[in-house]
Amino acid sequence: MSIPIVLDCDPGHDDAIALLLALASPEVELLGVTTVHGNQTLEKTTENALRVLELVGRSDVPVAPGADRPLLRDLRVAAHVHGESGLDGPELPAATAGPVDEPAIDFIAGRIRAGTVLVAVGPLTNIALYLEAHGTENIERIVLMGGAIAEGNMTPAAEFNIWADPEAAQRVFHCGRPVTMIGLDVTHKALLTHEWAERFRATGRIGTFVAELVDFFKRYHAHTYGWDGAPIHDAVALAHAIRPSLVRTEHRNVEIEVESELCRGRTVVDLWRRTERPPNADVGVDIDGDAFFELLLERVASL
Ligand code: BDR
Ligand code: CA
Repeated sequence: MSIPIVLDCDPGHDDAIALLLALASPEVELLGVTTVHGNQTLEKTTENALRVLELVGRSDVPVAPGADRPLLRDLRVAAHVHGESGLDGPELPAATAGPVDEPAIDFIAGRIRAGTVLVAVGPLTNIALYLEAHGTENIERIVLMGGAIAEGNMTPAAEFNIWADPEAAQRVFHCGRPVTMIGLDVTHKALLTHEWAERFRATGRIGTFVAELVDFFKRYHAHTYGWDGAPIHDAVALAHAIRPSLVRTEHRNVEIEVESELCRGRTVVDLWRRTERPPNADVGVDIDGDAFFELLLERVASL
């Protein structure tokens, strides 16, 4: 039986690959795509989602735009990672379809049904607003890409998605439904290297698109970390939603730092159970990187 999934995203190179994985996976019934500010403005992330769908001939998949700014903070995009378009690098066709004429949270409310998994791979503004307006009914669980136990990429203390809207993240982690956190500790352990990129390229048109996305995305990672390859953060979250064995998790308490500026958006994970705070998340701690890329390769090749 397939899993009803809403993909909430801010494409974004790795968001685009997560979307391809969702489209190519028989385990997924993609109820729709919702977009959020993040890697670029809402206008650009929405257009990027539509263009990726156009590329694979799936403009039938509805795209609903959501929040164009965080709950309380100023908007800050990640052009330094994803470029001015939010998806710099490969050529993409113009979208023939437009977004649906319904805001993301109304769209989700209209489509959600029992057992739905929300896969959230951008700042968590849409999900927090949805929870506030509609509660948690029919949400099986939320799998999110964000945070880190022991590092940061936006600041030394925080990962971008959580940093961008920490108040939204705090609400999501405390929503009472199962939350799985796929953070940098996991995604940085699975790099799409040159060798993997060549294997993607060899599969054809969409595999070449993935390799070209990585060609651009890896520049930031080469410059920042000295790596030959790029993590495909958001696709790990989607992959975990359909094949949980890929990522090992620990059930732990996670709190979000919303007070200090220095540590804004830090996911304070009580990995070693130093407090009595009750666990509220399954936190990713390790990944079978080869199995993840084999899955991704097989699925992308099928598109
Ligand atoms: C996250 O931030 C964005 O740049 C990526 O799309 C991913 O969701 C990684 O920190
Ligand atoms: Ca993202």
